[in-house]
Amino acid sequence: MTVEVAQLAEDLIRVGFFPPGRPPDYRSAAVAGEWEPLARLEPPGGVRFEVLEPAGAGIGDLLGPPLRVVMPRREGERFFGCGERTAGLEKTGSRQIFWNYDPPEGHTASLNNLYTSIPFVLSLAGGVCRGVFVDNPGRVEMDLAKADPGEVVYETATGNLVYYVFTGPTPAAVLERYTELTGRVGLPPLWALGNQQSRWGHVSADEVRSVADGFRSRGIPCDVLYLDIDYMDGFRVFTFDEERFPDPAAFIASLAEDGFRVVTIVDPGVKVDLEYPVYVEGRERGYYCRTFGDEEYRNVVWPGLCAFPDFTNPAAREWWGDNHAALLDLGVAGIWCDMNEPSLFVPAQSTMPADVVHPGGGEPRLHAQVHNLYGSGMAQATREGLARLRPDRRPFVISRAGFAGLQRHALQWTGDNSSWWEHLWMSLPQLQNLGLSGMAFCGVDCGGFFGDSNGELLARWTEAAVFQPFLRNHSQMGTVPQEPWAFGEPWESICRDMLLLRMRLLPYLYGAFEEASRTGAPVMRPLLFEWFEDEVTYTADDEFMLGDALLVAPITRPGIEHRHVYLPAGTWVHWWTGDVVAGPAHVLAHAPLGRPALYARANAAIPLWPERMHTGEPVDRLTLRVFAVPSADVVTRELYEDAGEGFGPSSRRSVTVDAEAVRVSAPVGAFAPAPRVVEVEVVRGGAAVVTEIGDGAAEITLR
Ligand code: GLC
Repeated sequence: MTVEVAQLAEDLIRVGFFPPGRPPDYRSAAVAGEWEPLARLEPPGGVRFEVLEPAGAGIGDLLGPPLRVVMPRREGERFFGCGERTAGLEKTGSRQIFWNYDPPEGHTASLNNLYTSIPFVLSLAGGVCRGVFVDNPGRVEMDLAKADPGEVVYETATGNLVYYVFTGPTPAAVLERYTELTGRVGLPPLWALGNQQSRWGHVSADEVRSVADGFRSRGIPCDVLYLDIDYMDGFRVFTFDEERFPDPAAFIASLAEDGFRVVTIVDPGVKVDLEYPVYVEGRERGYYCRTFGDEEYRNVVWPGLCAFPDFTNPAAREWWGDNHAALLDLGVAGIWCDMNEPSLFVPAQSTMPADVVHPGGGEPRLHAQVHNLYGSGMAQATREGLARLRPDRRPFVISRAGFAGLQRHALQWTGDNSSWWEHLWMSLPQLQNLGLSGMAFCGVDCGGFFGDSNGELLARWTEAAVFQPFLRNHSQMGTVPQEPWAFGEPWESICRDMLLLRMRLLPYLYGAFEEASRTGAPVMRPLLFEWFEDEVTYTADDEFMLGDALLVAPITRPGIEHRHVYLPAGTWVHWWTGDVVAGPAHVLAHAPLGRPALYARANAAIPLWPERMHTGEPVDRLTLRVFAVPSADVVTRELYEDAGEGFGPSSRRSVTVDAEAVRVSAPVGAFAPAPRVVEVEVVRGGAAVVTEIGDGAAEITLR
């Protein structure tokens, strides 16, 4: 066997472990850019490299033997990350499986792997953070001090075990390097941070139109409407049903007049139909996956019998991307990639057999070797297609499945949850786990997908979701309607108020996305991201930071309006009452409906815009809200601004608040905002004092 160790950066080591007779191979769809070794190192002491028995005859020989690396656990080491998961933040004492699939309805703690696989684990011991990324898109398993509390084990099934070690020493440093290696979330268009509404089962343009009218007539913000599979002609991708959506371009244009963008779903399965040009072209060009016996691989999905593009083939990816012109030409703003584990109906909710061949445009590989890449490949093809077709706009792609690196191509939503209180709770660690695994742009179906939601659940869910990166209400066909007004009062007003607060917070949220795109810091952050020396944060599963300055602790049970909140070190100000709390502290927050437990970091300037119905409405005021506490830490925050779309200039201003004054710098950068009022709102003891400043440097004395 071969074990090669290379230093790629001061805090990044790559280890390659290959069985006898296999040449080292570090090519990877997860890794962005080229990494040249700075130095070759000796294999680490105390680590065992084991070649296991192959999985029997047949393709087992082609895949190569399973491999295992066993390393000693650091003293007191605790584990986090691992991407999309159903349980809490901490992974210590668990076995983690990385294999994408469409899980059965009702995700519970009994499930391990879900739609997306990110074999990246962060660990903390003695206040020192490390990360390990196992770069293999076949099946990967990790034993995180479960079988033996003294050991950590990584296993691959396809004969290559390449892993990267990040030496931190902080979670921020680990994430920064990990997202340099696997890529960062691109800054989304501003509209993608607005409120979004979806529904499977809106079967006509008229039904979608009435949802749009519902938002505008009730004064509830919304930026984006989704078209689920119902819009297609017999579920043929890149088509519209001519009867139910007779003039899609006019329909989309009329929604645009009212400030809505339209995102359409696209599934990977292409209907086998000799009258359908997309299918025929893909077949003629040899772009579909093949059986081991070299026939077109087929299985059943929504359209019936389908063929499946081989996204490992660059030419197939380009072709797939170009096909989106059919949707973009009609005015579609973004693409929702679904069923891309891939999920197949025979047998129900299965995936491709291990021996399906991805011809790869001359570099064939078996499905078992590239399984977890299927979703990422589809998302990549889509994003690159959108970027080619509309080079002046930021591509918007949402994906259910993928592998490490998916964050470069798409945001991820966590698939088919249920309208359960348990799933509102689950969404909190689930999204934080994703953020800790490089997927800064992520979200869940707000209100729950399967089953009937209800007013209180939707209101509480909206109270949580407005503070999350991706905000979309989506539900299954046949369940009760779930629009923000569906359950009447008082729920409708609570949802409206929360969605208006989201609109107010957009410049703050946008700043958090800008930071994520530059450093890999999650938008929705576990407390341990910053307070990693404080072990109380390790189990703070159901509260989180939005960016660096807001702490959110949602209510996740019916009928209650108090909850425990842990406030880490620092000075915190209750958003609604102005009460000041010195952390670290365990507090009992009173959070009646419409008043979620929300705390601002004292002296942190939070930029706010006025309430609006959608992001296309002009912004006539920028408010820098400061919860000033003279005894608290001095805080400097940056205000980032740009046009919210395209790739034009930006500007940055710093806002520093100390015991004496609020100091705002002049902007640096060429972005020129439309004329508006800029003001500083100082909140002290619950009372606010507003001072107008201009676009230049300003100082407001606090004495
Ligand atoms: C899958 C998706 C879901 C979608 C449905 C129909 O279950 O996860 O969001 O509504 O397919 O397209």
